[in-house]
Amino acid sequence: MDHLLEIRNLKITTLRGKDKVYLLDSVDLSIRKKCSFGVVGESGCGKSITASAILGLLPYPLRVAEGSIRFDSRDGEKELLKLSRKEMRQVRGEEISMIFQEPMTSLDPIFTVEMQMFEALSFHHPGMGKGEMREIALEMLHRVNIPRPEQTLASYAHQLSGGQLQRIMIAIALINNPRLLLADEPTTALDVTIQAQILHLMNDLKEQRDTSIIMITHDLGVIAETCEEVAVFYAGQIVEQAQVVELFTHTAHPYTKGLLRAVTSLGGAQRKLYTIPGIVPPGGQWSRGCRFAERCEQCMEKCREEMPALREIAPGHFCRCFLQDREVEA
Ligand SMILES: Nc1ncnc2c1ncn2[C@@H]1O[C@H](COP(=O)(O)OP(=O)(O)OP(=O)(O)O)[C@@H](O)[C@H]1O
Ligand code: SF4
Ligand SMILES: [Mg+2]
Repeated sequence: MDHLLEIRNLKITTLRGKDKVYLLDSVDLSIRKKCSFGVVGESGCGKSITASAILGLLPYPLRVAEGSIRFDSRDGEKELLKLSRKEMRQVRGEEISMIFQEPMTSLDPIFTVEMQMFEALSFHHPGMGKGEMREIALEMLHRVNIPRPEQTLASYAHQLSGGQLQRIMIAIALINNPRLLLADEPTTALDVTIQAQILHLMNDLKEQRDTSIIMITHDLGVIAETCEEVAVFYAGQIVEQAQVVELFTHTAHPYTKGLLRAVTSLGGAQRKLYTIPGIVPPGGQWSRGCRFAERCEQCMEKCREEMPALREIAPGHFCRCFLQDREVEA
């Protein structure tokens, strides 16, 4: 396998009454080894359900209706959608792990940090002794720049700050040396200075550990700071995908242009200067044409009738918009 993860034609459905509705529509993603890949888009566009599908954690009644998710695991290529629950549990945490938005709710309030780090380790290394686990846990806390690791091991979640908790979540997520880390809005709950520190920390750890990261965010500023490649999601589809530098210098899709105007500057005082007018249509309630048509300043008649295809407009740069056809034809 060339890539670490290859998602092909992924479709996710849910049930509304007796009706099946599509929440994610024919998504293709290829994640290279040792790459940081950004997934960006507004609320409800399908970022988190894509991550849940990779982890085999889609909540009922959501399900994968079609597609494949192939993963280059340590013991060979695996089709994640065909693994049993037990096999998937083994992959989770050991080879693919996840950091969520809310560190407060991710750590269990009634157990110490040490107990939770040991649990993550012992699940995948049942024979490991307490001494060795403690050594590894301390080393991980040290790596994520926790100032007093010994004291922190004995602490409970409520005794720690949001930034510390998120560092601990990163330590737990990386403790088994996963090949892929899914980070779903890992810094949105934190203040801006801490956000920047956590993002830099994740980048450093990625370099040291050869881990690929899928960084999910609604903020292109976070992508600019941390990622090499990016896919822009809108209403359950990819609308633009490219190397990050290419996306920022040759932005093609009107939606991406809107997101760029809305970029918050990390470390800056001003936040959310601009928001794209209108809202993402609710899951499954999409028109047959371009799903961005209602909000697009450049919408043409054709856009309401036909769905634009995702086409390669420059090497490695894909865009789903009729304006690009015009430019290619001109
Ligand atoms: N448990 C669920 N039951 C029913 N619908 C769901 C469930 N989880 C997500 N959805 C729907 O799936 C669609 C995609 O949701 P998803 O959580 O992936 O969005 P997102 O891009 O991660 O948004 P956000 O930025 O708010 O986290 C939305 O229409 C959402 O309402
Ligand atoms: S296809 Fe039309 S409506 Fe959709 S983004 Fe392009 S110009 Fe706008
Ligand atoms: Mg989400």
